[in-house]
Amino acid sequence: MYARLIGTGSALPQTEVTNDALAQRLAQDGIETNDEWIRTRTGIEARFLADASLGEGTTQLAVLAAERALAAAELTPADIDLIICATTTPDQIFPSTACQVQAKLGAAGGAAFDVQAVCAGFLYALNVADSMLTSGKFKRALVIGAETLSRVLDWKDRSTCVLFGDGAGAVVLEASDDAGILACKTYADGRLGTDVLGLTGHLDNGVLAGDPFIRMDGRQVFKCAVEGLSTSGKAVCDEVGVDPSDVALFVPHQANLRIMTMVAKKLGIDMDKMAKTVACHGNTSAASVPLALDVAVRAGNVNKGELILLQGVGAGMAWGSCLLRY
Ligand code: ACO
Repeated sequence: MYARLIGTGSALPQTEVTNDALAQRLAQDGIETNDEWIRTRTGIEARFLADASLGEGTTQLAVLAAERALAAAELTPADIDLIICATTTPDQIFPSTACQVQAKLGAAGGAAFDVQAVCAGFLYALNVADSMLTSGKFKRALVIGAETLSRVLDWKDRSTCVLFGDGAGAVVLEASDDAGILACKTYADGRLGTDVLGLTGHLDNGVLAGDPFIRMDGRQVFKCAVEGLSTSGKAVCDEVGVDPSDVALFVPHQANLRIMTMVAKKLGIDMDKMAKTVACHGNTSAASVPLALDVAVRAGNVNKGELILLQGVGAGMAWGSCLLRY
Protein backbone atom coordinates (compact mmCIF):
# COMPACT_ATOMS: atom_id res chain seq x y z
CA MET A 1 0.00 0.00 0.00
CA TYR A 2 1.26 3.49 -0.91
CA ALA A 3 0.14 7.08 -0.38
CA ARG A 4 -0.09 8.31 -3.97
CA LEU A 5 -0.05 11.98 -5.03
CA ILE A 6 -3.12 12.64 -7.16
CA GLY A 7 -3.52 16.44 -7.08
CA THR A 8 -1.78 19.70 -6.18
CA GLY A 9 -2.98 23.26 -5.63
CA SER A 10 -1.71 26.56 -4.29
CA ALA A 11 -2.77 30.10 -3.46
CA LEU A 12 -1.07 33.46 -2.97
CA PRO A 13 -2.28 36.78 -1.56
CA GLN A 14 -3.16 39.45 -4.13
CA THR A 15 -0.39 41.90 -3.24
CA GLU A 16 3.04 41.32 -4.76
CA VAL A 17 5.84 43.33 -3.17
CA THR A 18 9.11 43.53 -5.10
CA ASN A 19 12.45 44.09 -3.39
CA ASP A 20 12.49 47.69 -4.61
CA ALA A 21 8.98 48.33 -3.28
CA LEU A 22 9.88 46.73 0.06
CA ALA A 23 13.07 48.80 0.30
CA GLN A 24 10.99 51.94 -0.26
CA ARG A 25 8.51 50.93 2.46
CA LEU A 26 11.29 50.16 4.97
CA ALA A 27 13.11 53.42 4.14
CA GLN A 28 10.10 55.30 5.51
CA ASP A 29 11.04 53.86 8.94
CA GLY A 30 14.73 54.57 8.44
CA ILE A 31 15.60 50.91 7.62
CA GLU A 32 18.11 50.57 4.79
CA THR A 33 18.06 47.67 2.37
CA ASN A 34 18.14 47.23 -1.38
CA ASP A 35 17.29 44.81 -4.18
CA GLU A 36 20.95 43.96 -4.83
CA TRP A 37 21.62 42.84 -1.20
CA ILE A 38 18.46 40.76 -1.00
CA ARG A 39 18.89 39.15 -4.44
CA THR A 40 22.57 38.25 -4.12
CA ARG A 41 22.30 36.87 -0.54
CA THR A 42 18.98 35.02 -0.92
CA GLY A 43 17.83 34.83 -4.56
CA ILE A 44 14.56 36.54 -3.53
CA GLU A 45 13.16 39.15 -5.95
CA ALA A 46 9.58 39.54 -4.67
CA ARG A 47 7.07 38.09 -2.24
CA PHE A 48 3.28 38.18 -1.75
CA LEU A 49 1.95 39.68 1.48
CA ALA A 50 -1.51 38.99 2.92
CA ASP A 51 -3.84 41.92 3.55
CA ALA A 52 -6.40 41.27 6.28
CA SER A 53 -8.59 44.07 4.90
CA LEU A 54 -9.00 41.95 1.73
CA GLY A 55 -10.04 38.97 3.86
CA GLU A 56 -6.68 37.28 3.38
CA GLY A 57 -5.32 35.01 6.09
CA THR A 58 -3.90 31.56 6.71
CA THR A 59 -7.24 29.72 6.63
CA GLN A 60 -8.48 31.56 3.54
CA LEU A 61 -5.26 30.75 1.63
CA ALA A 62 -5.37 27.14 2.85
CA VAL A 63 -8.97 26.72 1.65
CA LEU A 64 -8.14 28.13 -1.81
CA ALA A 65 -5.11 25.85 -2.18
CA ALA A 66 -7.14 22.84 -0.99
CA GLU A 67 -9.98 23.57 -3.44
CA ARG A 68 -7.48 23.75 -6.31
CA ALA A 69 -5.79 20.49 -5.25
CA LEU A 70 -9.20 18.77 -5.03
CA ALA A 71 -10.12 20.07 -8.50
CA ALA A 72 -6.81 18.78 -9.90
CA ALA A 73 -7.52 15.36 -8.34
CA GLU A 74 -11.09 15.47 -9.72
CA LEU A 75 -12.48 14.87 -6.24
CA THR A 76 -15.00 16.63 -4.00
CA PRO A 77 -14.56 17.46 -0.29
CA ALA A 78 -16.81 14.49 0.56
CA ASP A 79 -14.11 12.15 -0.81
CA ILE A 80 -11.61 13.32 1.86
CA ASP A 81 -11.42 11.59 5.25
CA LEU A 82 -8.23 13.23 6.56
CA ILE A 83 -7.04 16.85 6.59
CA ILE A 84 -3.64 17.78 7.99
CA CYS A 85 -2.55 21.39 7.91
CA ALA A 86 1.04 22.45 8.60
CA THR A 87 1.17 26.00 9.90
CA THR A 88 3.01 28.15 12.43
CA THR A 89 0.80 31.16 11.84
CA PRO A 90 -2.80 30.02 12.39
CA ASP A 91 -5.41 32.80 12.37
CA GLN A 92 -6.35 31.71 15.90
CA ILE A 93 -5.00 29.29 18.51
CA PHE A 94 -7.93 26.88 18.23
CA PRO A 95 -9.90 25.24 16.70
CA SER A 96 -7.11 24.14 14.39
CA THR A 97 -6.69 25.56 10.90
CA ALA A 98 -7.41 22.06 9.55
CA CYS A 99 -10.82 22.03 11.30
CA GLN A 100 -11.62 25.49 9.94
CA VAL A 101 -10.63 24.37 6.43
CA GLN A 102 -12.78 21.26 6.83
CA ALA A 103 -15.77 23.43 7.79
CA LYS A 104 -15.26 25.85 4.88
CA LEU A 105 -14.87 23.00 2.38
CA GLY A 106 -17.93 21.19 3.73
CA ALA A 107 -15.98 18.00 4.42
CA ALA A 108 -17.12 17.27 7.97
CA GLY A 109 -16.78 13.80 9.44
CA GLY A 110 -13.17 12.83 8.78
CA ALA A 111 -10.12 13.58 10.93
CA ALA A 112 -8.59 17.08 10.88
CA PHE A 113 -5.64 18.49 12.81
CA ASP A 114 -2.62 20.80 12.52
CA VAL A 115 1.08 19.99 12.57
CA GLN A 116 3.55 22.55 13.90
CA ALA A 117 7.10 22.04 12.69
CA VAL A 118 7.62 25.56 11.29
CA CYS A 119 9.32 25.51 7.85
CA ALA A 120 9.62 21.69 8.03
CA GLY A 121 5.88 21.42 8.76
CA PHE A 122 4.77 20.20 5.35
CA LEU A 123 7.35 17.38 5.36
CA TYR A 124 6.21 16.35 8.85
CA ALA A 125 2.55 16.49 7.76
CA LEU A 126 3.35 14.42 4.68
CA ASN A 127 5.10 11.80 6.80
CA VAL A 128 2.13 11.57 9.18
CA ALA A 129 -0.36 11.36 6.28
CA ASP A 130 1.75 8.64 4.63
CA SER A 131 1.63 6.57 7.83
CA MET A 132 -2.12 7.10 8.30
CA LEU A 133 -2.96 6.17 4.69
CA THR A 134 -0.68 3.16 4.48
CA SER A 135 -2.07 1.87 7.81
CA GLY A 136 -5.33 1.31 5.95
CA LYS A 137 -7.31 3.49 8.37
CA PHE A 138 -7.81 6.41 5.96
CA LYS A 139 -8.46 6.58 2.21
CA ARG A 140 -7.78 10.12 0.98
CA ALA A 141 -5.93 12.97 2.63
CA LEU A 142 -5.59 16.66 2.02
CA VAL A 143 -2.16 17.79 3.25
CA ILE A 144 -1.80 21.56 3.38
CA GLY A 145 1.00 24.01 4.18
CA ALA A 146 -0.33 27.53 4.84
CA GLU A 147 1.29 30.57 6.39
CA THR A 148 1.00 34.31 6.87
CA LEU A 149 4.42 34.91 8.36
CA SER A 150 4.19 38.60 7.47
CA ARG A 151 2.14 39.03 10.69
CA VAL A 152 5.06 37.93 12.87
CA LEU A 153 7.87 39.82 11.16
CA ASP A 154 9.62 42.73 12.79
CA TRP A 155 9.59 45.24 9.92
CA LYS A 156 12.40 47.10 11.66
CA ASP A 157 14.69 44.03 11.53
CA ARG A 158 16.09 43.99 8.00
CA SER A 159 17.92 40.69 8.56
CA THR A 160 14.60 38.80 8.75
CA CYS A 161 11.79 40.89 7.26
CA VAL A 162 13.13 40.74 3.69
CA LEU A 163 13.17 36.93 3.67
CA PHE A 164 9.56 35.85 4.07
CA GLY A 165 6.28 35.84 2.18
CA ASP A 166 2.74 34.48 2.60
CA GLY A 167 0.96 31.66 0.75
CA ALA A 168 -0.44 28.15 0.81
CA GLY A 169 0.01 24.88 -1.02
CA ALA A 170 -1.90 21.60 -0.83
CA VAL A 171 -1.71 18.05 -2.10
CA VAL A 172 -4.25 15.24 -2.26
CA LEU A 173 -2.91 11.80 -1.36
CA GLU A 174 -4.78 8.55 -1.92
CA ALA A 175 -4.17 5.08 -0.47
CA SER A 176 -3.27 3.00 -3.50
CA ASP A 177 -1.56 -0.15 -4.72
CA ASP A 178 0.23 2.02 -7.29
CA ALA A 179 3.52 3.58 -6.23
CA GLY A 180 3.46 6.96 -4.52
CA ILE A 181 5.54 7.96 -1.48
CA LEU A 182 8.54 5.60 -1.46
CA ALA A 183 10.39 6.95 1.57
CA CYS A 184 9.77 9.81 4.00
CA LYS A 185 12.08 10.69 6.89
CA THR A 186 11.80 13.49 9.43
CA TYR A 187 14.31 14.55 12.07
CA ALA A 188 14.86 17.18 14.76
CA ASP A 189 17.57 18.46 17.07
CA GLY A 190 15.87 20.49 19.79
CA ARG A 191 19.22 21.55 21.17
CA LEU A 192 19.44 23.98 18.21
CA GLY A 193 16.49 25.79 19.70
CA THR A 194 15.12 29.28 20.15
CA ASP A 195 18.53 31.00 19.99
CA VAL A 196 19.02 29.80 16.42
CA LEU A 197 15.49 30.50 15.19
CA GLY A 198 12.52 31.28 17.36
CA LEU A 199 9.38 33.23 18.16
CA THR A 200 8.69 33.25 21.89
CA GLY A 201 5.50 35.33 21.94
CA HIS A 202 2.42 33.74 23.53
CA LEU A 203 -0.73 34.62 25.41
CA ASP A 204 -0.50 34.62 29.20
CA ASN A 205 -3.50 35.55 31.31
CA GLY A 206 -4.93 37.77 28.61
CA VAL A 207 -1.74 39.59 27.69
CA LEU A 208 1.01 39.02 25.16
CA ALA A 209 4.14 37.64 26.82
CA GLY A 210 7.51 37.14 25.15
CA ASP A 211 8.69 38.57 21.83
CA PRO A 212 6.00 38.63 19.11
CA PHE A 213 8.50 38.55 16.23
CA ILE A 214 10.77 36.00 14.51
CA ARG A 215 14.41 36.13 15.67
CA MET A 216 17.13 34.32 13.79
CA ASP A 217 20.83 33.57 13.73
CA GLY A 218 21.06 33.47 9.93
CA ARG A 219 24.46 31.83 9.69
CA GLN A 220 23.56 28.97 12.06
CA VAL A 221 20.31 28.37 10.17
CA PHE A 222 22.24 28.33 6.91
CA LYS A 223 24.64 25.64 8.17
CA CYS A 224 21.89 23.46 9.72
CA ALA A 225 19.77 23.72 6.60
CA VAL A 226 22.53 22.61 4.23
CA GLU A 227 23.48 19.71 6.50
CA GLY A 228 19.92 18.53 7.27
CA LEU A 229 18.72 18.71 3.67
CA SER A 230 21.80 16.98 2.23
CA THR A 231 21.85 14.10 4.72
CA SER A 232 18.09 13.48 4.72
CA GLY A 233 17.96 13.69 0.91
CA LYS A 234 20.65 11.04 0.70
CA ALA A 235 18.91 8.92 3.37
CA VAL A 236 15.60 8.62 1.49
CA CYS A 237 17.38 7.89 -1.80
CA ASP A 238 19.50 5.21 -0.10
CA GLU A 239 16.41 3.64 1.45
CA VAL A 240 14.77 3.30 -1.96
CA GLY A 241 18.02 2.33 -3.68
CA VAL A 242 18.16 5.19 -6.20
CA ASP A 243 20.77 7.86 -6.82
CA PRO A 244 19.70 11.48 -6.15
CA SER A 245 20.66 12.25 -9.77
CA ASP A 246 17.76 9.93 -10.85
CA VAL A 247 15.27 12.46 -9.45
CA ALA A 248 13.29 14.26 -12.18
CA LEU A 249 12.01 17.10 -9.96
CA PHE A 250 13.80 18.43 -6.88
CA VAL A 251 11.73 20.64 -4.54
CA PRO A 252 13.84 21.78 -1.59
CA HIS A 253 12.44 24.19 1.00
CA GLN A 254 12.43 27.58 -0.73
CA ALA A 255 14.32 29.62 1.89
CA ASN A 256 17.40 30.80 0.14
CA LEU A 257 18.79 30.06 -3.34
CA ARG A 258 22.31 29.72 -1.95
CA ILE A 259 21.20 26.98 0.49
CA MET A 260 19.25 25.22 -2.28
CA THR A 261 22.18 25.38 -4.71
CA MET A 262 24.63 23.96 -2.15
CA VAL A 263 22.26 21.08 -1.35
CA ALA A 264 21.70 20.30 -5.06
CA LYS A 265 25.48 20.21 -5.57
CA LYS A 266 26.06 17.97 -2.54
CA LEU A 267 23.37 15.56 -3.76
CA GLY A 268 24.57 15.69 -7.38
CA ILE A 269 21.20 16.91 -8.68
CA ASP A 270 21.20 19.01 -11.87
CA MET A 271 20.10 22.62 -11.18
CA ASP A 272 17.63 22.42 -14.10
CA LYS A 273 15.63 19.87 -12.10
CA MET A 274 15.30 22.16 -9.08
CA ALA A 275 12.13 24.19 -8.35
CA LYS A 276 13.12 27.83 -7.71
CA THR A 277 10.00 29.70 -6.67
CA VAL A 278 11.91 31.41 -3.84
CA ALA A 279 12.65 34.20 -6.34
CA CYS A 280 9.00 35.17 -6.72
CA HIS A 281 7.49 33.94 -3.40
CA GLY A 282 10.25 34.45 -0.82
CA ASN A 283 10.30 31.97 2.06
CA THR A 284 6.70 30.96 2.78
CA SER A 285 7.68 28.51 5.57
CA ALA A 286 5.44 25.41 5.65
CA ALA A 287 3.76 26.54 2.42
CA SER A 288 6.96 26.72 0.40
CA VAL A 289 7.30 23.06 -0.64
CA PRO A 290 3.68 22.40 -1.73
CA LEU A 291 3.56 25.83 -3.41
CA ALA A 292 6.74 25.14 -5.40
CA LEU A 293 5.54 21.60 -6.17
CA ASP A 294 2.22 22.89 -7.54
CA VAL A 295 3.96 25.47 -9.74
CA ALA A 296 6.29 22.76 -11.12
CA VAL A 297 3.47 20.26 -11.72
CA ARG A 298 1.32 22.85 -13.51
CA ALA A 299 4.32 23.92 -15.63
CA GLY A 300 4.68 20.28 -16.75
CA ASN A 301 8.12 19.92 -15.16
CA VAL A 302 7.44 16.32 -14.07
CA ASN A 303 5.83 13.34 -15.84
CA LYS A 304 3.81 10.45 -14.43
CA GLY A 305 6.11 7.71 -13.14
CA GLU A 306 9.08 10.04 -12.49
CA LEU A 307 10.75 10.60 -9.13
CA ILE A 308 10.18 13.74 -7.03
CA LEU A 309 12.33 14.68 -4.03
CA LEU A 310 10.70 17.07 -1.50
CA GLN A 311 12.63 18.62 1.39
CA GLY A 312 11.83 20.84 4.36
CA VAL A 313 13.87 22.45 7.12
CA GLY A 314 13.04 24.96 9.81
CA ALA A 315 13.09 26.05 13.42
CA GLY A 316 13.52 23.36 16.02
CA MET A 317 15.74 22.67 14.21
CA ALA A 318 13.59 20.20 12.30
CA TRP A 319 14.07 18.80 8.80
CA GLY A 320 13.10 15.99 6.49
CA SER A 321 12.96 14.58 2.97
CA CYS A 322 10.40 12.63 0.98
CA LEU A 323 10.99 10.64 -2.20
CA LEU A 324 7.91 9.79 -4.23
CA ARG A 325 6.97 8.39 -7.60
CA TYR A 326 4.60 10.77 -9.38
N1 ACO B 1 19.81 44.68 3.61
C1 ACO B 1 21.05 45.18 3.66
N2 ACO B 1 21.99 44.79 4.54
C2 ACO B 1 21.64 43.82 5.41
C3 ACO B 1 20.35 43.25 5.42
C4 ACO B 1 19.42 43.71 4.47
N3 ACO B 1 18.16 43.21 4.38
N4 ACO B 1 20.30 42.31 6.40
C5 ACO B 1 21.51 42.30 6.99
N5 ACO B 1 22.31 43.21 6.39
C6 ACO B 1 23.72 43.51 6.69
C7 ACO B 1 24.10 43.15 8.10
O1 ACO B 1 23.77 44.20 8.99
C8 ACO B 1 25.60 43.00 7.98
O2 ACO B 1 26.19 44.27 7.98
P1 ACO B 1 27.61 44.51 8.72
O3 ACO B 1 28.57 43.60 8.02
O4 ACO B 1 27.85 45.96 8.50
O5 ACO B 1 27.37 44.12 10.14
C9 ACO B 1 25.78 42.43 6.57
O6 ACO B 1 24.55 42.71 5.86
C10 ACO B 1 26.05 40.96 6.54
O7 ACO B 1 25.12 40.33 7.38
P2 ACO B 1 25.17 38.79 7.59
O8 ACO B 1 24.06 38.38 8.52
O9 ACO B 1 26.55 38.38 7.90
O10 ACO B 1 24.83 38.28 6.12
P3 ACO B 1 24.88 36.83 5.54
O11 ACO B 1 25.76 36.79 4.38
O12 ACO B 1 25.06 35.78 6.61
O13 ACO B 1 23.39 36.66 4.99
C11 ACO B 1 21.26 35.72 5.49
C12 ACO B 1 22.29 36.77 5.86
C13 ACO B 1 20.75 36.00 4.09
C14 ACO B 1 20.08 35.79 6.47
C15 ACO B 1 21.92 34.33 5.53
O14 ACO B 1 22.60 34.12 6.75
C16 ACO B 1 20.93 33.24 5.34
O15 ACO B 1 20.35 33.11 4.30
N6 ACO B 1 20.71 32.40 6.34
C17 ACO B 1 19.70 31.40 6.27
C18 ACO B 1 18.48 31.99 6.91
C19 ACO B 1 17.20 31.50 6.37
O16 ACO B 1 17.08 31.00 5.27
N7 ACO B 1 16.17 31.70 7.17
C20 ACO B 1 14.88 31.38 6.78
C21 ACO B 1 14.10 30.91 7.93
S1 ACO B 1 14.51 29.33 8.40
C22 ACO B 1 14.24 28.35 7.21
O17 ACO B 1 13.36 28.55 6.43
C23 ACO B 1 15.12 27.21 7.10
